[in-house]
Order: sequence, then structure tokens, then C-alpha cells
Amino acid sequence: MEIQVAQERIERVKDKAVVVNLFEGVRRPGGATGAVDKALGGMIGHLIKGGDLRGTYKETVLFRTFGKIPAQRVLVVGLGEKAKFSLDRIREVSAKAARHLRDAGVDSFSTVVHGAGIGGFALQEASEALVEGVLLGTYRFDRYKTEQDEKKELRRTRIVVKDPEDVNPVEAAVRWASVVGAATNFTRDLVALPARDKTPEKLAEIATEMAREAGIACTIIDQGEAEKLHMGAFLGVAQGSEEPPQLIVLEYKGGEAEDPPIAVVGKGITFDSGGLNLKTYEYMKDMKEDMAGAAATLGILKAAAELQLPLNLLGLAPCTENLPSGRATKPGDILRTHLGKTIEVLNTDAEGRLVLADALGYATSFHPKAMLDMATLTGACKVGLGNMTTGMMGNNEELMERVRAAASRTGDHVWPLPLYDDYEEQIKSEVADVKNTGGRYGGAITAALLLKKFVKDIPWVHLDIAGTVWTHGKPDQLKREYLPKGPTGVGVRLVLQALRDWAQQTA
Ligand code: BES
Ligand code: MN
Ligand code: ZN
Repeated sequence: MEIQVAQERIERVKDKAVVVNLFEGVRRPGGATGAVDKALGGMIGHLIKGGDLRGTYKETVLFRTFGKIPAQRVLVVGLGEKAKFSLDRIREVSAKAARHLRDAGVDSFSTVVHGAGIGGFALQEASEALVEGVLLGTYRFDRYKTEQDEKKELRRTRIVVKDPEDVNPVEAAVRWASVVGAATNFTRDLVALPARDKTPEKLAEIATEMAREAGIACTIIDQGEAEKLHMGAFLGVAQGSEEPPQLIVLEYKGGEAEDPPIAVVGKGITFDSGGLNLKTYEYMKDMKEDMAGAAATLGILKAAAELQLPLNLLGLAPCTENLPSGRATKPGDILRTHLGKTIEVLNTDAEGRLVLADALGYATSFHPKAMLDMATLTGACKVGLGNMTTGMMGNNEELMERVRAAASRTGDHVWPLPLYDDYEEQIKSEVADVKNTGGRYGGAITAALLLKKFVKDIPWVHLDIAGTVWTHGKPDQLKREYLPKGPTGVGVRLVLQALRDWAQQTA
């Protein structure tokens, strides 16, 4: 979709539709909505008076203008109560408006920036939220559908500002948010792909192509290389599959040459059957999503390069299937990791921590100043925090605070779980340095504690995204207009925002 910025009075804009807004309880609209109302001879006021327009949150009222203004249609979106207004609400109403118009067969519209002006938000942040809402809210994954209904597609969104000095901040917002929105949708596409179409080798190809386009370095550590690097845990997970494992390594250098990188690591299990500890139907059917951490890593590196963030990034995505076979790792096996520590595998379905142990351990050899991993790691995180909230764990309060602050801006729910040393008792092994299961209780924590053994002293934060990776449309999930059914792309906006804030502070 094309996103443009134009300086014009909204009531003079010629387009298939113009979008204006209304706070709840406002009887006589001012600003852009007032100007359109006036040009229409008071039509919006009449709708309000007649009770057909109230400004309730996410209300949409669409009508024809019959030549009274150059635009063919007006869509008024309700912003709800002024006191509850937020950046996330801008994202939501923008997503709702865009989808409403698309589904009405409108392929191009012009909109004011909701929430700037009387909403009280700075023009740039409000415009970013608007663009995110439009791009994320109109996402769909339909490449496998051959029997399409008439395909309705939005071609163009034009953001209209009245004053010349408003063009620059809105254009800056469009630059940021369209890259971030496209990267989120890129990540969503990868998560939505069936496992057979994103085998580790295919994902490595996609990463290589992405890196070439973005102008960053990409190297693939294949099975032979991984053997040389003694990545026994990663290889132990992979050995049950016919598909060769691939560790994707991405390097973006936007900072000073001597500045150590920030490492972003994502779990890349392209299908998690559980291995010999085979999952049942109910738990296995969604397990193509088990590479969402890796997909987010690719999206983050892509966007960081396109935005030329002034920092150095290392992206690692250990990719493999987790399948049972005559060659698969067996419960009781002991694997030797890249860092030399040994892990007793008691449950082959706790495979994410195994591949991450090697990826995080390998990342330490780059001497990063911080490490962040994203992983669909545990069902226990879903039990503990539900599906609305990403679990956050780590060894560094300052780093966790960066993520928490970014989340409050991006609208993500992120909440900490504790890593008290006492929990380590649960993962002590009789025969190896650590075991890969810690029992029923505190499963998200004991999984993270295993990871902690592989990050040395480097500031590290771990995000357990098992609950937040996919929208099924059920009541136990975050309901947002910009999170349509399907993969959420969780992590991409969040981490990019954290990196942006970090780069800004050190600039
Ligand atoms: N990939 C799963 C976790 C998961 C569950 C992700 C649901 C997304 C949705 C992970 O590999 C797993 O199987 N974890 C086990 C660990 C257990 C065997 C210690 C779990 O949480 O049940
Ligand atoms: Mn598993
Ligand atoms: Zn898994």
C-alpha cells in the first residue's frame, strides 16, 4: 500500500473517502470534523442530533457526499471518551477505519491524524500510530487461497495536514511506521507459512534474500559448521529430522565500528511435534508458529537496516524441526553445548531452551553489550500470564526497564516473572550440569533459568511469547483492531522501539 502525506484542507480533498473523527459527547464538532461538517451544510451535526453518530469508541459512520465536497464519501470514526484516549486507541480506530473502507470497496482514502490537536498527542507519535494501525489492521495471509471472493484491496492512504509546518513530522512518522509496519507483516507472513514451506533451509534462503535487499551481512551455519562449533544441543534437537538445521547469523552495522553489538536471538523451531515426547493433536496443530522468535529477529534486523538505526546488531536464529525418528534424541540423553556445559534431556519437547542454549552461548563470543531473546518457549507462560501478556525475564533490571518502557509505547503487554536463584534446585541434574525440565510448577521461570546459564555476565532479557504469538479471536486473547486473526508479529515493534529509544539516549 502506498502512504502519502498531503498539505490541504480536508474538506477540499478529492478522494474516494475522507476520514474524520469525533470524541464521545461532542455535540458541535470543531477542527477538521467541524470544517467538513460546515462544508456539508451541517450534515454531521444533524447525524449527532438525530442519534446516528455518538462518537463512541470505534463507531464508524460512512455516508455519501453527493458532490457537496470533492470527496465521494465521509467516514466519521468514534474516538470514545476523551479521558480514555491513548496512542493505542489511535492505532485501533485507524485500523478499524481502514478495514471498514476496504470492505466497503473503497481503495483509496484520505485521513486526518486522529489524536493530534484536541487528542493531545504530538503529531509525529499520533501519525506513527495511525500508519501502524492501517498497515497492521489490513494485514491478511491469503496466498494459498485460489478461490477468492472478489478481492478488495486498499491501494492508497493519504494523510492530510492543514499547516505546512506539519508536513515534516508526519513524513518522518510515515518513514518510521511504514518500515516497522512492513517488517511486522513480513514477520507475520513467515509465522503463517506452513512448516513444509519454511523448512530451516527455506528460511535461511529467505533470510539471505532479505539481507541482500537490506544491505546487511548474512551467514548460515549449517550442520557441518555447527558440529565444528560443538553445538551439541542445537544438533541434538535437529537430529530427529530429515531437514538439515540452519543457524542464521545476521549482522547490521549502523554504529561505530568498535561499538559492541546488541544481540537479538530468536527461537526457530519450524515445527515442534515434541519429538519422541510427542505432542497430542490439540497441542501440535499450531506448532508451525514455534519459529516466531526467529521470524521476529529477521523482521527486526530488516527494519533496523532500512531505518539505519545508529547501532550495531547481531541477529541469531537457530532453525530446526523437532521431530521423532529412529535417530531422534531420547529422554535421558546428555548433550554437550557450544560453551561446554552439558544438558540432560528428560523431555524432548523442551527443545527451545536447547537450541537457545547454543545460540545464546555462541552470541557471547561476539561480546555484545546486551542480549535479547524471543521465544515461544513454554505453555507454562500461557498458564501463568494468560495469552494477553508476554513474559519477561532477565538478569538486568535496566535492560528490562527499557523493554517495559518500549512496551508502554507500542501497546504490548509485557510483565516480569522472577528468576530467584532458589528455583535452580528444580533444574539440577544428577548426571549433567543442568536438566531441561523443571517440573510442573514455574515452568516459564525454570526454562529461563536454563537460558541464564548460557549468557555469562552479559545483560540479557528473555521474552516468552508463547501466549502472544497468534490471535485466534478467543476471549482469552488481546483483542485489538490492528491484531487481526493470525500471527501478531509480536516482538518486532516492541524491540525496534526499545532499540530506537536506546540509540536516541546514547546519541
Ligand atoms: N513450543 C512449545 C511451547 C508452546 C506452547 C509454544 C504453546 C506456543 C504455544 C515448547 O517447545 C514446549 O513444548 N514446551 C513444553 C515444555 C515442557 C515439556 C517442559 C511445555 O510448555 O509444555
Ligand atoms: Mn516443545
Ligand atoms: Zn517448542
